[in-house]
Formats: sequence, structure tokens, C-alpha cells
Amino acid sequence: MGKTIIKDTLNRPLRDLRISVIDRCNFRCQYCMPADQFGPEFAFLPKSALLTYEEIERISTLFVQLGVEKIRLTGGEPLLRKDLPLLVEKLSKIEGLSDIGLTTNGVMLPKLAGDLKKAGLKRVNISLDSLNDELFGKINGRKVGTKPVLDGIEAAKKAGLGVKINMVVKKGLNDSEIIPMADFCKREGLQLRFIEYMDVGSTNGWKMDDVVTKKEIYQLLKQQYELEPVEPAYFGEVAKLYHYKGTKVDVGFITSVSESFCSSCTRARLSANGQIFTCLFNGNGHDIRNMMRNGATEEELRNRIIDIWGGRKDRYSDERTLATASNRKKIEMSYIGG
Ligand code: GTP
Ligand code: 5AD
Ligand code: SF4
Ligand code: SF4
Repeated sequence: MGKTIIKDTLNRPLRDLRISVIDRCNFRCQYCMPADQFGPEFAFLPKSALLTYEEIERISTLFVQLGVEKIRLTGGEPLLRKDLPLLVEKLSKIEGLSDIGLTTNGVMLPKLAGDLKKAGLKRVNISLDSLNDELFGKINGRKVGTKPVLDGIEAAKKAGLGVKINMVVKKGLNDSEIIPMADFCKREGLQLRFIEYMDVGSTNGWKMDDVVTKKEIYQLLKQQYELEPVEPAYFGEVAKLYHYKGTKVDVGFITSVSESFCSSCTRARLSANGQIFTCLFNGNGHDIRNMMRNGATEEELRNRIIDIWGGRKDRYSDERTLATASNRKKIEMSYIGG
């Protein structure tokens, strides 16, 4: 079956699908799943609520037929889902899909990178917010030092996966790590993306004052390095990239707070329990799991996706006033997968 490109009310095509395969994580990053809110009593999804790999494959195939070119697997921590390479293998067989990526904290990559690559995974984005063991342990809420993540980065490189590093910057917490991280990634030939701390969910206590903007980080970098802007590689690229002059390395910024990018947002999200979300900040999911489990046909599922995307109006980051985060119902990042 060929591709039909569907567009939303703001004329944005459907291009990417971010799939959360599990809502659990072995970390408790302060800015995502703060330990005091996600304690031992926290009710994560039971296994029966999670989409099976067959269900994910079925929905993904329909999404690809409706325009999706890139799939990114996320969590929680996606590598906690059992036998993830089996899912990658299934997805990599979908005709018309050009890219499969994974966003991870990296600690299980030494074990899984080779199998993931063999199964058809192309790229991993690995989160690392500091090179200082103590600070990193405090940020990840589990006192995990940097070594397991650095080993994960090495394993991914060795397996032949493309690697990017994500660093969420929070004022007063890890802004002192901006230059050390830039130095390290430049030396290692890794693309580092500085991510503005976002008001996702309702548990991280976000305040505008905690955000370190792209402008601030850029000023800092410019004192050390010569940077040249890089043209976006495609419509809707999330990161704004710069090139370190005289090297083969880029550095980027994800500016969802200071320079939002909703007008080119082509991303749909599928949660671990089979709800479709049309925005990272729109808490109203559209169930598709129960439809499938109640015997919906491909035609019915396809029409459901067309209706959901066709009715999409979201532009949360554009609308967010820089001073305050709204109180509207939001969805936790660990649930929807960032
Ligand atoms: P590639 O460009 O394919 O490498 O992936 P990505 O940068 O889109 O994915 P990744 O999971 O690495 O996300 C990096 C950061 O961008 C995370 O903090 C995400 O929450 C954020 N992000 C990704 N997509 C969106 C989006 O649609 N809206 C907003 N506001 N943030 C996003
Ligand atoms: N703001 C910005 N980025 C976040 N991430 C998690 N929580 C936040 C937040 N509050 C990032 C992670 C990971 C990606 C999926 O999202 O660091 O790299
Ligand atoms: Fe886990 Fe990633 Fe959230 Fe950290 S940012 S708690 S590693 S899902
Ligand atoms: Fe897309 Fe929503 Fe992010 Fe805007 S805030 S870029 S609409 S996911």
C-alpha cells in the first residue's frame, strides 16, 4: 500500500511517530520523574495494559501508510522492555519507514547495542546531564555515576549506531557542566544537544527561572569556540544546529521554551498503553488499544488516525507565555515518552 500524507488543521503533515514502549525507568531524573513523586508505591502500568509488539507493529504500519517516515522508541526507559530488539526487527520490516531511533539513558546499551543494531536500529539519543559523578548521581536520583552511561555510549558507537547526546540544562543545577560537556562531546566526535528544561507533566515543579535559554548557552559557548550555523536538514527538525569550525562535529539546541517550533511539528505520540497523543503537552489521549482489542478492522483504525490527526490544533509551546506554565491537564513525560 502506498503512502497518503495527512495534514492537521494547521496544515502540518504527519511525519514522525514517537512510541513509548514502557512507562518505567531505572532512573529518577529530577526534571522528569522526581523520586519523591515516583516512589516504590507508584502505580506503573501493569503488563496487560501495555501494547504488545504485534499491536505496536500493526498501528505503526498504519501510521507509516499515513505518512510517518521516522519512528522513535522511548519510555520511561525503553531498554527495560523485554526483548526490545524483537520489536525493532518487526518495525524495520515495515515498507516505507526510513528511520528507527531510540532515546535512552544508555545504561543497558553495553548489553543490547549489538542486537539492536542487528535488528535494524539506526540511531540512539543518549541522555547525559553531567560528567561529574556526584552531580550526575543527584540528577538521576539513583546515585548512578557517569561510567555506566559512558560505557553505553561506547557500546553504541562500537555497534555502529549513530549517537547523539541529550543534556537537559537546569539553572543552578548543571549549568556549570555546559562547557565540560561541550568539550567532552567535541573531543569524542559526538553531537551534543542542550535541551531547555520544559514544563512537562505536573510533578517536576517547573519554574521559568530554572530555564537556561539557548541564548545564554550560546553566549557561553561562543567565548570558547567558533561556531557556524547549520541549515536544518529537513522540515520540522527539532534541534537548531551549529558546527564547530574546523571540525566534523555539530552542537545543537532544543529550544522548546525560548523559541518554540510548533509550526513545523509533525510528531504523533503513542503511549505505552495505546493512546495517541497529538502534543507532548496535550493530556487528552485517544484510545486505540481497546479499539484493537475489541476487533476493529484496519479500515476503522486508519480512519481513527485520520480523524485524530485531521482535528489536531496543538501548539502548546507557541502559546505558553514565557512567564508562566499553564495549569491545564498535562501528561507526564515518562508516560508519553518525551
Ligand atoms: P531526532 O531529531 O530524531 O534525533 O530526535 P529528537 O531530538 O526529536 O528526540 P529525543 O527523544 O532525543 O528528544 C530530545 C528532546 O526534544 C527531548 O527533551 C524531547 O522532549 C524534546 N522534543 C522532542 N520532540 C518534541 C516536540 O514535539 N515538542 C517539544 N516541545 N519537545 C520535543
Ligand atoms: N525538559 C526537557 N527535557 C526533558 N527530558 C526529560 N524531562 C525533560 C524536561 N522536563 C528529556 C530527557 C531525554 C528526552 C527524552 O527528554 O533528558 O533526553
Ligand atoms: Fe528515566 Fe529518561 Fe526520565 Fe531520566 S529522563 S527519569 S532516564 S525516562
Ligand atoms: Fe509539537 Fe506540542 Fe511540542 Fe508544539 S508543544 S512542538 S505542538 S509537541
